[in-house]
Amino acid sequence: MSLTLLPPPTQQIISEIASSAGVEMYVLRLDLMHPLVNGNKWYKLKYNLLEAKDKGYTTLLTFGGAYSNHIFATAAAGKLLGFHTIGVIRGEEILPLNSTLNFAVKQGMQLVYVDRETYRQRNSAVLQGDLKKRFGEVFIIPEGGSNLNGVRGCTEILKTTTQVFDTVCLACGTATTLAGITLTLSSHQRVLGFPVLKNGSFLAQDINNYVKNYLTTGLSVVYSPPTSWELLCDYHFGGYAKVKNELLLFSQEFTQTHNIPLDYVYTAKMFYGVMDLLKQRYFTKGDRILLIHTGGLQGNLGMNERL
Ligand SMILES: Cc1ncc(COP(=O)(O)O)c(C=O)c1O
Repeated sequence: MSLTLLPPPTQQIISEIASSAGVEMYVLRLDLMHPLVNGNKWYKLKYNLLEAKDKGYTTLLTFGGAYSNHIFATAAAGKLLGFHTIGVIRGEEILPLNSTLNFAVKQGMQLVYVDRETYRQRNSAVLQGDLKKRFGEVFIIPEGGSNLNGVRGCTEILKTTTQVFDTVCLACGTATTLAGITLTLSSHQRVLGFPVLKNGSFLAQDINNYVKNYLTTGLSVVYSPPTSWELLCDYHFGGYAKVKNELLLFSQEFTQTHNIPLDYVYTAKMFYGVMDLLKQRYFTKGDRILLIHTGGLQGNLGMNERL
């Protein structure tokens, strides 16, 4: 049982829009690292899995929505690495299972459904204590792998590319990934985060907390103080997992032109945002921008089921 990961390639995007803005554009293809456990999901899981293993746990318990990339990746990683897995799923069981949950069950994940009110308590000691009483010695990974182990894993993302760049762009859900990346850039570089939730500016506080807490762990950072970051909050297309025709068309056309598949929930929104900013001449001439493809392509199956 093992997980063999391929080094993610960095691919240049040749685009008229980028070249007329005087910008070089590259994509770091984390989606290609592994067929099942890839994207930022791997990086957010890595140190959680190592901690679970070091502490002798054999069962992982985590949380997610019915279409969650994190549930999908945890179920797959658990199977490949020899952990039992339990997924606490928000909402009622709906049969037949959608493609994400069906996959998770096939990997051996036990699904437990909780109502939305209970789910909101997922980080509370009380609910976690109840779950431990019910399931015994389980190693709990928070929703999305969003904790300091997750941030730590994400500090390794940019080590996988030798591409020289000035600006990193990525989609944000909890911004754990952005926090990790911020900790590894030098002062002349910057990060642009594209929240996929409505009113995503609230993430600023979370990023500051992640960075501050990470710096108190004593774990190494490449540069200190961490580099600057900015959130561009106008590309959410109505909110989390909401799509509009314009986004679907953009995504399909982009995939056809550049042979890079995008997921509708995260990466399509960020790529759309970057293309729009290029048209607005937002970037400085000569900028080399690196877009992080954070994976999540399994989610398109679920989205197609819902459309
Ligand atoms: C494909 C994909 N991209 C981006 C993100 C956003 O990551 P974060 O929550 O660390 O901001 C997620 C969620 O983890 C994701 O599944």
